[in-house]
Amino acid sequence: MEDKESNNWDATKYHKYADFVSKLAMPVVELLAPKKGEYILDIGCGEGSLACEIESSGAKVVAVDLSEDMVEKTKAKGVEAYVMSAIDLYLKHKFDAVFSNATLHWVLEPQKALEEIYKVLKKDGRFIAEFGAKGNIKHLTIAMQTVFDNHPEFGTFQSPWYFPSIKDYQVLLEEIGFKVVSIESITRPTKIDDITNWLDIFANGIVKHLSKEQKVVFKKEVKGLLEHLLYSEKDGWVVDYVRLRLKVIKSG
Ligand code: BEZ
Repeated sequence: MEDKESNNWDATKYHKYADFVSKLAMPVVELLAPKKGEYILDIGCGEGSLACEIESSGAKVVAVDLSEDMVEKTKAKGVEAYVMSAIDLYLKHKFDAVFSNATLHWVLEPQKALEEIYKVLKKDGRFIAEFGAKGNIKHLTIAMQTVFDNHPEFGTFQSPWYFPSIKDYQVLLEEIGFKVVSIESITRPTKIDDITNWLDIFANGIVKHLSKEQKVVFKKEVKGLLEHLLYSEKDGWVVDYVRLRLKVIKSG
């Protein structure tokens, strides 16, 4: 299940420290290749910058996100947007294409999400997505797990993410009835502003049960474990992202 608390991000903080998410997504928009007059669903629209980019082609976008804050930001940009989960797309219209960037790794019921995407697509409609693949943020995950292991009072570390291999995801897609046009795993070391801000934005669900003091300890110790792996004087913080990028067609 998607965890609403993990996904209800502070849009201002996101804009300040995580705008790289949409800035790096232009190849995914290019793979979508939106056309004038098309009707496109953007799942996990964030602040709506990619929805605007897609609409600049003349396509009409309907954007959804689990975060109310993000949906408000998207609406303020003039895009039709709703608070909605990828596993429950109650939309009347059928779409020429479904687009999703940096979202589906938060959806722990991938089959349900793919069934919903299949349902809202027109026949021969396309689904274009990019999200975390197997191996994504490996160092970060190990560091978070290690800090939890070193602090039994923190409880059990539970990853909120789904990072599938190409093979596993391809099997799921084909079981649902999609025809795979392309699917690839891309290693993309990603420069971020600071690891503490990354943890504040993206790991808030993991530590939501901890006290304020424990959260400070968590961030400090994760940072300490990662410094020699992900930080250099020359490049600053560079996180070990691996993307799964795909284009599939509803062929049935
Ligand atoms: C990602 O884009 O790969 C990602 C972002 C935040 C948390 C986990 C993964």
